[in-house]
Amino acid sequence: MPRILSGIKPTGKPHIGNFFGMMKPAIEWQERGEAFYFIADYHALTTVQNPAELREFTRGVALDFLACGLDPTKAVLWRQSDVPVVAELTWLLSCVTPMPMLENCHAYKDHLAREKVPSHGLFAYPVLMAADILLFDSNVVPVGRDQKQHVEVTRDLAAKMNALYGKILVVPEASILPEVATIPGLDGQKMSKSYGNTIELFEEEKALRKKVMAIQTDSTPVEAPKDPAHSSIVALYRLFASAADVAQMEADFRAGGLGYGVFKTRLFEAIWSYFAPMRARRAELAADPGYIDRVLADGAQRAGAVAEKVMARVRPAVGLR
Ligand code: TRP
Repeated sequence: MPRILSGIKPTGKPHIGNFFGMMKPAIEWQERGEAFYFIADYHALTTVQNPAELREFTRGVALDFLACGLDPTKAVLWRQSDVPVVAELTWLLSCVTPMPMLENCHAYKDHLAREKVPSHGLFAYPVLMAADILLFDSNVVPVGRDQKQHVEVTRDLAAKMNALYGKILVVPEASILPEVATIPGLDGQKMSKSYGNTIELFEEEKALRKKVMAIQTDSTPVEAPKDPAHSSIVALYRLFASAADVAQMEADFRAGGLGYGVFKTRLFEAIWSYFAPMRARRAELAADPGYIDRVLADGAQRAGAVAEKVMARVRPAVGLR
């Protein structure tokens, strides 16, 4: 059984991009190996610096993940900071990490390009991510294309440690998730928290309708034919509707005679019904306020046990204790 590991950063409420990009594939992977998933609250600290917010987002991600089908009897789910030994491994890895390797990482470079001053945490982020992965002897790391570079850093660091100290770390493989065609946000750009154009999974009905109705469209008049290939409405609809319904919408676009409002209403309905079973499950879980805490505590214990075993191998190998 391969050990599969992935993390999700609690920087806000999960949105449709997070769902198709990480949560849904992670839930599918839980059937295929020993799944280890954590909520990366240490990572989130590079951007979320309000303690109440960080706690709320962390629990919220756990609740949403469980509501979507993460099964804590199959997968281990924990909060990163509940296994703080990851910070110790981060330090050990830092000591073999060449600065130029981090200077080459895209999050840091983007920051510089936007003329922002990166924190050391942001700069060192890939080392913490390597520790996340290596601390659990992970074999497979399913990630989106944007995280591939970080898994390569992880492989390099593991190989370096092994060359220096003997075979103490498992060298993982990235499993690049099939490109869910870029998910457009409300403004047509890629859906992302940093653009403020997201649709959250569990919006209230009214708020969801309002957001969908606010998707930006061009000014093609109602009666004119419209191009489905360049429409965010169609691109989003594809994620939620059956092939037949998508084909119908495309045909209706081309035929003309219907305004964007009609298509948005269909999209709203498709999203609302897609998440209906998960919404029901979420309400059930939320009714037992101790549930998330129990799942996370159990996960922390199981993850912590694995981490301690790995550290018991690593510490003496590098000359500590
Ligand atoms: N960096 C990842 C992201 O931004 C989250 C993450 C942190 C992660 N640690 C990880 C993903 C370890 C996979 C494995 O999405």
